[in-house]
Amino acid sequence: MDEPIIVGIDVGTTKICTLVGRVEQEGILRILGVGIEPSQGMRKGVPVDVRAVTQAVSRSIEKAERTSGMEITSALVSLAGSQVSSVNSKGVVGVSGRTIDDDDVIRSMEAARAVAIPHNREIIHVIQRGFTVDGQPGIRMPLGMHGYRLEVETHIITVAASAVENLRNCVDDAGATPSQFVLNPLASAEVVLSETEREMGVVVCDVGGGTTDIAIYIEGDVYHTTVLGVGGDHITADIAHGLRLPISQAEEIKIQHGHAVEAEVGENEEFHVRPFGEEMPLQIHRRELALIIEARVEEIFSLVLQEIKRSGYDGLLPAGMVLTGGSSSIPGIRTVGSQVLGLPVRRAQPDNLVGMTDQLYSPAFSTSVGLLKWSMLMTEIGGESSQPKISSRGGGYDWEYIKSLIRRLFP
Ligand SMILES: Nc1ncnc2c1ncn2[C@@H]1O[C@H](COP(=O)(O)OP(=O)(O)OP(=O)(O)O)[C@@H](O)[C@H]1O
Ligand SMILES: [Mg+2]
Repeated sequence: MDEPIIVGIDVGTTKICTLVGRVEQEGILRILGVGIEPSQGMRKGVPVDVRAVTQAVSRSIEKAERTSGMEITSALVSLAGSQVSSVNSKGVVGVSGRTIDDDDVIRSMEAARAVAIPHNREIIHVIQRGFTVDGQPGIRMPLGMHGYRLEVETHIITVAASAVENLRNCVDDAGATPSQFVLNPLASAEVVLSETEREMGVVVCDVGGGTTDIAIYIEGDVYHTTVLGVGGDHITADIAHGLRLPISQAEEIKIQHGHAVEAEVGENEEFHVRPFGEEMPLQIHRRELALIIEARVEEIFSLVLQEIKRSGYDGLLPAGMVLTGGSSSIPGIRTVGSQVLGLPVRRAQPDNLVGMTDQLYSPAFSTSVGLLKWSMLMTEIGGESSQPKISSRGGGYDWEYIKSLIRRLFP
């Protein structure tokens, strides 16, 4: 069977999720294997204990191998961390009056990539944002067009080289070679955004355990990406601190009784917890818990708003915000987001999956599933891993083209 097998490893702060998938006819993604393990050694999206991360990744890979019956040797790996930055760059090449082919597109992307990047940073993505052929801008895909001069606008995302290297070593030592890194919010966007939203202008916001990942899409293209070092772990820590409970209990009551809008919780709603080592159970008003959560959620969205304003694209997001990530499960979080940002907010999670999908229908797995979707749409330029990738975004996918890309990626 020559249908390509794809593997993604989402190395999160809370959980590590390895997925094995197969791209079937019509671009349907079948999940063949799943390995979900609690994360260890990660803080705010980056490894802080390399050995612990390696062990956790290794367990996750083993589980995915067992469930899929396949051996995993390489994978796409998610990347977060606060040291992400991006620049826009243009590449120009001559075509000499014939039809533009794959190689011309690749050459133009290579030319765009030749911007000065400091030695301590590594290029993770070179994303095309549209082509110009002989002075005619706004061309989505120039393949097959006639021309003399091909220009490409790109968005180049770089990450601190040491952070990438640490993660690469962890995954390598766990038994899989990272074939490419994908920035968290770009992977999530592949799962939760519709083409219409991308065209209109939208911000995707993945609130996880240690990070909140943001990507802004306008006219179908990525315009801005950021990773903030705040997430659900901070909410849990606030609860532990505010109610004087151990972290594990704070996490439990957050998931069982949490709400992000104090005013929406009934005045008399109460629950009990028994702090470790205490005889008597502790009675807690759910409103008290909601007040703590609301304050931190408000703060997270204020940071998101600040970031959107800093990008300069506020006012260009009529499709509003699409919220995902494990922490987007907190009841009421949509209301707070909408109030703080002044935008419509919807929550989204993976859907339309085939195969071993039971656990994956949750917003916590948007990045994990997104890695597989990403690998369906990308291919390498040049032979080396983690080199720039070509994005074939556009209004509606050109499946013939994408298939040819996939063929190249999985010869
Ligand atoms: N039902 C729920 N209610 C509230 N919070 C939840 C719920 N389910 C999960 N969470 C929170 O979601 C967070 C984990 O989300 P997720 O799995 O997306 O993180 P991650 O991908 O491992 O981390 P990151 O992307 O930040 O590195 C945890 O803080 C957890 O407490
Ligand atoms: Mg995540």
